[in-house]
Amino acid sequence: MCGIVGYVGNKSVVDILLDGLEQLEYRGYDSSGIAVMCEEDIKVYKAVGKLQNLRDKLKGHETEFNNSTMGIGHIRWATHGAPTLLNAHPHTCNCGNLVVVHNGIIENYKELRKSLEDAGCIFRSQTDTETIAHLVARKYAQCKDLTEAVRLASEEIEGAYALCVMHNDCKNKLVITKRNAPLLIGIGDSEYFAASDVPAIIKHTNKAVYLEDNQIATLTPDSMEIIDIDKNNITPKVEVLPWEPVALSKMGYKHFMLKEIHEQPDVIRNILVGRLHAPDEEIILNEVNLNKERLRHLNRIQIIACGTSLHAAMVGKYLIESFCGIAVDVEASSEYIYRKTVTDEHTLVIGVSQSGETADTLTAIRQAKAKGSHILIITNRPDSAMAREADSLIPVNAGIEVSVAATKSYIAQLMAFYLLSLYMAEIKDSIASSTLTSLKTELMILPQKIEQILAHKENIQTVARAYANTKDFIYIARGINYPTALEGALKLKEISYINATGYPAGELKHGPIAMLDETMPVLSILMNGSVYDKLLSNSEEAKARNARMIALTNSKDEKLNELFEHIIRVPDVQELFSPIIAVIPLQLIAYYIAEFLGKDVDQPRNLAKSVTVE
Ligand code: F6R
Repeated sequence: MCGIVGYVGNKSVVDILLDGLEQLEYRGYDSSGIAVMCEEDIKVYKAVGKLQNLRDKLKGHETEFNNSTMGIGHIRWATHGAPTLLNAHPHTCNCGNLVVVHNGIIENYKELRKSLEDAGCIFRSQTDTETIAHLVARKYAQCKDLTEAVRLASEEIEGAYALCVMHNDCKNKLVITKRNAPLLIGIGDSEYFAASDVPAIIKHTNKAVYLEDNQIATLTPDSMEIIDIDKNNITPKVEVLPWEPVALSKMGYKHFMLKEIHEQPDVIRNILVGRLHAPDEEIILNEVNLNKERLRHLNRIQIIACGTSLHAAMVGKYLIESFCGIAVDVEASSEYIYRKTVTDEHTLVIGVSQSGETADTLTAIRQAKAKGSHILIITNRPDSAMAREADSLIPVNAGIEVSVAATKSYIAQLMAFYLLSLYMAEIKDSIASSTLTSLKTELMILPQKIEQILAHKENIQTVARAYANTKDFIYIARGINYPTALEGALKLKEISYINATGYPAGELKHGPIAMLDETMPVLSILMNGSVYDKLLSNSEEAKARNARMIALTNSKDEKLNELFEHIIRVPDVQELFSPIIAVIPLQLIAYYIAEFLGKDVDQPRNLAKSVTVE
């Protein structure tokens, strides 16, 4: 989603801003802009489309900002108003003295706009952000103090925001604030950075302060002062950021997505470190802050998540119900927050989120927390807003995921559910110890099995190319792999824009079968286990309607050659672990089709990595 970078210090600012924005590009955006404090006044440059368009626009203007050492930058993912030059950030007040960049959504912007227009402000864009520029400028005209102006304005703003503000009167002062949107301050040597996410600044510093809601920071090259909305001084809590700059390199892969798919064996190994030493030893999950007695008597769990994380949650439900016999409800966060949910202090609520910033999930867990539920967060970002809300936190340590399409974070989330469900099963004594040992043995060898798939990915590439020109794609599965079908279809939709749908195979005959003919590819996730025969019958039904049949299977059955036009074989695995193995070829199919079609694999159109608006 949108991204913010700000800088005040002693170095040439334009490169820092552009480079920072480039590091946030992966989050998805459709226009960009910077504002630079130049000798005379603030200069603003914007461009629609890729950051390169902004770079091109800046060519020839170098002499204007040669000595500039303060500025703000933004990449915008359109919410209010189309991705046009006028709607791109930074936005200015009418006299151009004040500039602002903003992430989030101002919920009362219509009322604010109306009263600002009545007071004489002229709006040039359709954005909610422009109201902030006018509002802060008016406050500044009254108090002549930029920090106070931002504070007064934030008292009137409703909604979510991270803001960076500059004013022509304050040649080396940057004022920033936030509410329900991430914003951090990077601390350098006589310089400060502001950013909506770590990658924008990690090249320069790993010392940072996470601003908290309703705090306002005033940054100059030599000082950082933070107050809260009631003007109390805040002592900043300086943290050391965990990310290494090397994580943002493609390391020779054509796309981040391909690199991240290949990182998955190590992602599994990482999450097991310190938690599972040997098959005959107990799982250690100190992160779960529920005492054993409470865990033993837990009888209801709710899991809330969006998108790919929701699919991981669906597998999680299957595992917890199978291993622990506890009833689990899974729900899309965006649905959870707009109905009367029955949850209380006896319910464990699990929020799953790669970014830890997804607005719908954040709101959902806050609602559940307010009702007294214990909140367990599974996230790849232990530094996120969700992590800070958590009563228990399982960081999945997948490393930064740059590709918008989630791959390694999904595998890491699945692993968190394997560990959690087996951990709870041990406490509840709900599985025989010999079964537990065999499950843990298999868990530990999953990385090698994924490596086998990756070592023979040419066959998957061939299959992908054979279907690259299809308009539609159907994925069918049953049981624990139904979420895998949904995830495979989501990956294909996201990056190739092909209309793909995942179905529980038994549902095919209740409607979707009407769509089948010789133009429709149907991929059957045919993994050995309790539903193998049933799924085979459903595949026969599809074949009888002339669909083009593809099998993704760990079966050695030669007879499958008669039914399926293409077969992707994967290593054998116990049914309960098959979602881990089956999703890898589906990620690769989506990747190879999108790459073959020449799509922007890492930054698909209209999508954002971290969806910070509801
Ligand atoms: C799919 C994808 C999205 C996210 C969804 C939730 O590849 O990336 O569907 O899974 O936006 O995001 P998080 O997990 O950050 O809450």
